[in-house]
Amino acid sequence: MWKPPDRIKHETNTGSWPSQTKAAKSLLFSPLQTGNLSLAQRSWIPAMVPWRATLEGEVTDAVVEWYARFAMGKPGAIVIEATGIRDIASGPLLRIGHDKYIEGLKRVVDAVHTASQGQTKIYIQLIDFLSMRRRPAKDKYFERFLKITEAHKEALGLTREHDIRDALLALDDEALETILTQREFEAYQRGYRQRVTDTEFPHIAELPNILPDLFADAALRAKKAGFDGIELHYAHAYTMASFMSRINTRTDGYGGALENRARLPLKVYHAVRKAVGDDYVIGCRMLADECIEGGSDISDALYFALVFAKAGMDFLSFSRGGKFEDAARPAKGQAVYPYTGRSGYECMPHFISDKSGPFGRNISPTASLRAHLRAEGFDTPIVVAGGIHGFSQAEAILQNEQADIIGMARQTLADPDWFLKVKTGQGEKVRVCKYTNYCEGLDQKHKIVTCQLWDREQLDEDGVHKTPDGKRRMTAPI
Ligand SMILES: Cc1cc2nc3c(=O)[nH]c(=O)nc-3n(C[C@H](O)[C@H](O)[C@H](O)COP(=O)(O)O)c2cc1C
Ligand code: SF4
Repeated sequence: MWKPPDRIKHETNTGSWPSQTKAAKSLLFSPLQTGNLSLAQRSWIPAMVPWRATLEGEVTDAVVEWYARFAMGKPGAIVIEATGIRDIASGPLLRIGHDKYIEGLKRVVDAVHTASQGQTKIYIQLIDFLSMRRRPAKDKYFERFLKITEAHKEALGLTREHDIRDALLALDDEALETILTQREFEAYQRGYRQRVTDTEFPHIAELPNILPDLFADAALRAKKAGFDGIELHYAHAYTMASFMSRINTRTDGYGGALENRARLPLKVYHAVRKAVGDDYVIGCRMLADECIEGGSDISDALYFALVFAKAGMDFLSFSRGGKFEDAARPAKGQAVYPYTGRSGYECMPHFISDKSGPFGRNISPTASLRAHLRAEGFDTPIVVAGGIHGFSQAEAILQNEQADIIGMARQTLADPDWFLKVKTGQGEKVRVCKYTNYCEGLDQKHKIVTCQLWDREQLDEDGVHKTPDGKRRMTAPI
């Protein structure tokens, strides 16, 4: 993972933990009721992919156990992992692109409601992503994948396809860069990746006509499975965020100017709203800043947040970065991972950081976005996440009206009981996240995600489920 040049080591600071009485009086542990959104407390576990579904995208016992374990801590809400709206092969990631997935997802919903004794709302993050390939071996790329064009023939002065392929294979990267187009060179170096701007392909040109129904059908299935609401994934490296990006130059009314970039996200939202009804929770996760060169920044986010609030979204959850554009070159046979560049760092900041440190980098932009909405007369609840791990910090964010709901991803992976422990005056028992990103490293390798602080603990205890190699436990000890 990219690390800021300053490389300052930061230590977590939880501040003081509250007594049970103080916690009971806090904003964090008080209910929130705004529009359709009703939470028993203002805490939230943002989506985290744990790599536990089947290869067909079905819920497994491990998925159910994973979310039930989080629900035991009784947070206000859990957003379950990015779940694909299309029924297409995508590894062990959950899918909701067909009615056959409803039964399995219902098990997750029931497990969360039961384990939290009805205290925790469960939302599902709905995602669409475009196709991408792993970085190919050089011989495979030039022998099979590259489509030979007139430009290659001209550049090499050769006519027979076989000779051109052999000639390209013999060249070094410096020479290849002068002959291949930028996209061909990228496909060779990093693996082919489709973009929303590739409108020469009918299925990409047609996305604005296809996606609203795909999202709406998925949302209806989620409602049937019993989810309390929907989080539209409009953040990070995926299709919807790419439509919203400043680097989206589509000329069909869905790219370029801000209002054009907002058109598809709004169309999707309206289709989803029509499918699930006015009294159902629909919000989105979006970026306060893409954190890439030439990408969207807070000024774009201010516009999007306002149009989404006006359209009637029930919450807005802010993240930052997490883009393909600045991601590191993957190893051969691996896929490019959008959390390896500077933007990835901004999304999941590491304990080795710059002067600003990894704790709460997204608070100030989120506060500006919230203030903008309030000034325009919208009370849409705002979720903030990024390095938050202590009660004092969380409570100060709420007291200072910088956000309405506190999201903690890695801290709750480290200790799913954070909320329960802190609420009952046992904050000193919290297993505090070290922000080393061991979990994120597992995600990058598409391995079952666990936390280094607990995955080797009490491995021989009765009933402990382990990873297939038997080396790590699958859920946090109780
Ligand atoms: C293992 C892992 C998987 C993640 N998967 C998702 C995801 O599916 N959707 C999403 O919006 N964010 C995802 N994230 C990002 C988190 O939701 C969160 O925004 C980020 O970790 C920063 O918050 P934190 O500092 O509280 O961890 C993931 C993070 C981790 C560590
Ligand atoms: S592995 Fe555990 S301690 Fe390390 S960053 Fe992830 S959640 Fe935090």
